[in-house]
Amino acid sequence: MRIARTVAELREVLHGDPDVGLVPTMGALHEGHLSLIRRARDAHRVVVVSIFVNPTQFGDTADLDAYPRDEARDLELTRAAGVDVVFAPTAREMYPDGFATTVRVSGPLTASLEGAGRGSAHFDGVATVVAKLLIATAPRAAYFGQKDAQQLLVVRRMVADLRLPVDIVACPTSRDADGLARSSRNVRLSRADRGRARAVPRTLEATTAAVAQGAHDVDDLRARALEVLLAAELEPEYLAFVEPDTLEPVREVVAPTLCALAVAVGDVRLIDNTVLDPG
Ligand code: PAJ
Repeated sequence: MRIARTVAELREVLHGDPDVGLVPTMGALHEGHLSLIRRARDAHRVVVVSIFVNPTQFGDTADLDAYPRDEARDLELTRAAGVDVVFAPTAREMYPDGFATTVRVSGPLTASLEGAGRGSAHFDGVATVVAKLLIATAPRAAYFGQKDAQQLLVVRRMVADLRLPVDIVACPTSRDADGLARSSRNVRLSRADRGRARAVPRTLEATTAAVAQGAHDVDDLRARALEVLLAAELEPEYLAFVEPDTLEPVREVVAPTLCALAVAVGDVRLIDNTVLDPG
């Protein structure tokens, strides 16, 4: 496995290979990341994993500073997963002195949910760094998790708008045995909060069950969902029922609907989502 620290090194190692699969990450790798890596490994001759804690997508420096980092362990995991190249640049390499270029996806895809909660700069940071990673790697396909459903839509929009020649592949959310979506941030949950966090997937499970039983009024579904959260003394930052491609709010679940929520459990912010299908 090769480790590239600069874009020039990465390009030299890849040598214009036409069958590269890219998995962009911020490290602190877990089984969710590995599920993306396996998908890429199955499909491509060369697999590149990028590991870069991207400062421009973090709202406050406390969150950036608290973000878990363990490069030695990440490199062990990527090596064991059969990754060919890890691209692990410095912040200076990605954002050279005088850096002044931003890729912005504007409009409803970035204004709501995470964009409202974390501020519009968050998706500017994501779109800019993903554009840079795609340009540096020139992959045939790049792999993203459905766990970050809005991020996936923003990346798809950017790739379509810039006509970047890459397939964006969506991968299902990988969960712990108790349902909690795997996340690098989970390691920061205290033992007690790890138990309360279980209410996040339970909320989605209860909503899915209610829809299966014929409930479709969003006010009603929201009230039921809030009860599940409240029982764990959790209050969502948002709990949204939206059209899965446009993120426009819906009032009734009469077609596949994205149910997405963000909840602070202690000082750890968790997000999760599922697609409700009324059948
Ligand atoms: P990060 O949070 O490290 O996630 C990297 C990729 O792994 C994303 O596509 C994310 O959706 C996916 N992922 C995370 N947890 C997952 C899970 N439990 N199941 C399936 N996929 C999961 O998302 C980012 O980094 C950054 O915003 C990035 C795209 C790298 C840009 O900086």
